Amino acid sequence: MTDRFLNALKGTNTSGRPPVWLMRQAGRYMPEYRVIRSRHSFLEMCHRPELIAEITMLPLKAFQMDAAILFSDILLIPEALEVGLHFEEKLGPVIARPIKNRAHVEALPKIDVRESLGFVAEGIKYFKIDDSKTPLIGFCGGPFTLASYMIEGGSSKDLRKTKEIMLRDPDTLHMLLDLLANYSIDYLNMQIDAGVDALQIFDSWAIFLGHPQFREFSLAYLDKIMKGIKKDKPVIIFCRGSSVFAPDLAELNPQGISLDWNADLSRVRSQIPPGIALQGNLDPDILLASKHVLQREVYRMLASRRGDSAYIFNLGHGITPEVPYENVRALVETVQDFT
Ligand code: CP3
Repeated sequence: MTDRFLNALKGTNTSGRPPVWLMRQAGRYMPEYRVIRSRHSFLEMCHRPELIAEITMLPLKAFQMDAAILFSDILLIPEALEVGLHFEEKLGPVIARPIKNRAHVEALPKIDVRESLGFVAEGIKYFKIDDSKTPLIGFCGGPFTLASYMIEGGSSKDLRKTKEIMLRDPDTLHMLLDLLANYSIDYLNMQIDAGVDALQIFDSWAIFLGHPQFREFSLAYLDKIMKGIKKDKPVIIFCRGSSVFAPDLAELNPQGISLDWNADLSRVRSQIPPGIALQGNLDPDILLASKHVLQREVYRMLASRRGDSAYIFNLGHGITPEVPYENVRALVETVQDFT
């Protein structure tokens, strides 16, 4: 196992440069991905173990990342709960039967995650057969983020419907969050048993919450997941909003916190215990800049964390489809050449 990434999560990476991987590293900016995507729907790609393994591998072959992230999606748990998930070309995820009230939550089917999502475990095993050296990151969505997709019926610019339930009928939202946290625990434990080396939880929409609501509706359920999963694999928590919420997230004692791009890494470093690794946090749009500007900004970030044995280079959110492939190469090489 190449160990720069796992060492950084232990705070013991003394190899001279930080590990690098990128959120959404296997995605539409890659021509190899688009070839596979032209033959299959996105959900079909997520459902077929041999495709999961093949697509997870694409960015490793192209750029020698220090970690792989499982090719999948956080919305597979809602899909298994039969809310009618599909992906539309311009809109992204669409949920045909959104949750509007308590009766809808009560009517959700009881599922066995290991059965409904067993294909994800198979995909992990296939990947491990092909590549036993690169650490593999499994993941799930934060319950608040999953609930917001289920309530909004897809992506939303303001989470209006979710916040309306949160403020007018909080018990119903708590019931949904609790159920999603329980399924997420089963789901992550299944991924650990299948062979992942680390886990990341994506609570992308926490950014919409004020501080007390963040603690009650997002953090409490991340805590439940942290307490429910097997303890032997390191966990990284990512939120949009983690620049502000990092000290709260640190209370859960994850091995890593992944920062959105608004934070100054060194400032957050001083706010959280030294035993927790930091990951991040280049603005993904910097990948759209000229190679010169990109290299300058990557270098600036690396220099700000020089000698930090608990730092993982990443973006502050996922790579977007418009990003030039050669810029991803330039980014990774700048990190790899850093001394
Ligand atoms: O990082 C990786 O390379 C691993 C795979 C991964 C995907 N989605 C693949 C994907 C991961 C970790 C995710 C997480 C995810 N999915 C999140 C949390 C992180 C974040 O971005 O905030 C969220 C909110 C989702 C839900 C989701 N899936 C949306 C909103 C979309 C559409 C937006 C878009 O980029 O088009 C997806 C689709 C999706 N997930 C794609 C990929 C590669 C593109 C699908 C396609 O090929 O059409």
